[in-house]
Amino acid sequence: MPGKQAPAKRGASHADGVVKFLPAPLCGVYPAKEGPVIQEPCSCNAAKPARAACRPGNDCAPAILQKSNGLENGLNTIMRKPIIAGNWKMNKTVSEAVDFVEAIKRDLADIKGVDVVVCPPFTALQAVGNVIAGTAIGLGAQNMHWEKSGAFTGAVSAGMLRELYCHYVIIGHSERRSLFGETDSDVNRKVKTALASNLLPIVCVGETLKQRKAGKTESVLKTQIEKGLKNIEKKELKSLITAYEPIWAIGTGVTATPDQAQQGHQFIRGLLKGMSDEKTSQSIRIQYGGSVKPENAGELFQQPDIDGGLIGGASLDADSFVRIVKSVLCAG
Ligand code: 13P
Repeated sequence: MPGKQAPAKRGASHADGVVKFLPAPLCGVYPAKEGPVIQEPCSCNAAKPARAACRPGNDCAPAILQKSNGLENGLNTIMRKPIIAGNWKMNKTVSEAVDFVEAIKRDLADIKGVDVVVCPPFTALQAVGNVIAGTAIGLGAQNMHWEKSGAFTGAVSAGMLRELYCHYVIIGHSERRSLFGETDSDVNRKVKTALASNLLPIVCVGETLKQRKAGKTESVLKTQIEKGLKNIEKKELKSLITAYEPIWAIGTGVTATPDQAQQGHQFIRGLLKGMSDEKTSQSIRIQYGGSVKPENAGELFQQPDIDGGLIGGASLDADSFVRIVKSVLCAG
């Protein structure tokens, strides 16, 4: 169930004389598919913000939070808006990607109460961005380099992603860590660059089965969160997203039980509190990832500290992705 708080006004498109709301996770300039490219104020109240002026942490659209944390300690109740992102990994050619987003657009173009994001491979970002322009579906990349430019064969910078109207970037996915040797300090550098470039990082953490069996889950998560998010200001922490993805659940068909997932999320939120304060930690959205399917999504998303999902395999099929997105709206 989405929270009661009404979504704040987002950027608007005036194409065809109809005012439509555009996805504005970071406000700024958005490409309307037809009609003029316009700038609109976002909820940070910056009048006609330049892209550079609207920084994560300005309480822009990501701070439209809808899931209640049930805080009863005198703080204002903080609501977190759920977010479902499809991590396509190395799947879909450009034409397949376009067909896919055309298909989900029919159901999700105007969806409210949940942020929906697709993260295609780099090659399909531009084409997918063109199809979803002017809809509520956001665009994310699966990785980026921390440097602005230079001799980094095969790498892509934050600026390159921003120019394609990417607003999100997955950082520190377990496949990047295990297959490409990414370290916590790489993750930290990328997170800082992403935030400085107006990209919202989705920072992934999670333990292997061996680590879980050895009772090391909490120490692994602690290291990944504390090193990955080292020296990030509270104001910026608030706008990033973390994803708890137990590695043993990724692509295996074995999902964490709702209790196991909730325990991981609660622990991560506690770590975030230790690095900031209660209010900040309660603002940060934590997605669950690992064999989420339409059949198990609802139960997972009902957990108090689970604010949506980072979906792999099931995000490649339009019907199952749409069903997962819709299940978050019923989950409460
Ligand atoms: P699966 O949903 O295929 O298990 O993948 C999860 C994941 O790695 C998302 O980033």
